[in-house]
Amino acid sequence: MARILFLGDIVGRAGRQAVRQHLPAIREAERLDLVVANGENAAGGAGITREIAEELHGSGVDGITLGDHCWDQRGFDKDIGSLPYVCRPFNLFAGSPGLRHLVLETEGLRLGVVTVLGQVLMKIQSDAGFPMISNYLDEHREACDTWLVETHAETTSEKVAMGWYLDGRVATVIGTHTHIPTADARILPRGTGFICDAGMSGPYDSVLGRDIAPIVRRFIDGMPRRFTVAGANVQLRGVIFEVEPGQRGCKSFDPYSFVVPAEG
Ligand SMILES: [Fe+2]
Ligand SMILES: [Fe+2]
Repeated sequence: MARILFLGDIVGRAGRQAVRQHLPAIREAERLDLVVANGENAAGGAGITREIAEELHGSGVDGITLGDHCWDQRGFDKDIGSLPYVCRPFNLFAGSPGLRHLVLETEGLRLGVVTVLGQVLMKIQSDAGFPMISNYLDEHREACDTWLVETHAETTSEKVAMGWYLDGRVATVIGTHTHIPTADARILPRGTGFICDAGMSGPYDSVLGRDIAPIVRRFIDGMPRRFTVAGANVQLRGVIFEVEPGQRGCKSFDPYSFVVPAEG
């Protein structure tokens, strides 16, 4: 049986530091075989760089997924091609650089990892995820035993619908992007673990990872201003799930949280 941790969007320096300092011990304590994390907000809250991807990988993140912020750091569209453990959303427009999915191997399991970018209220445009993911899973059926599907979307309805759509065909459908963990983790009737949002891995005394005051002021006066990245009350949030050899669904699927002890 494989035990896998998925961490929601790693945000900024605080999120990265928490991963670097604590993930090795978490891997041991939780007896993890694989760790997958979304890194779309790892660089200053927007995007990721090659150096940061390498650092996360070196800290024990086996696979890194991305979302709508995948190209926010200049040059990453060139660098992604040299990072075999990073995949961008599979349904970006044809010809986009980067891997469309990963295959992570651990004892007795080849786990496909793929992110579906949502279409409702999403600024970055993409191809229609629903019809495409079904065909995509069929095309790669022989290469993976089962899948970690990530639904990176704004609305709960789009994410819940994806869960039901893929129930029984994949190990998990895990929501990301909204950065707030939801209380709906469950295993659907045909065996797929589902949660609307795994939450972010970053500073929770914030508004979705950004400093509180500038965002609140923006809601008061509507004026544009810089949204700096927060740093207090750092937590790693995600899910731990277990997959048995030969099964496409998951055996267990539980929310995970680790609160980083405050310094001093
Ligand atoms: Fe995000
Ligand atoms: Fe996002």
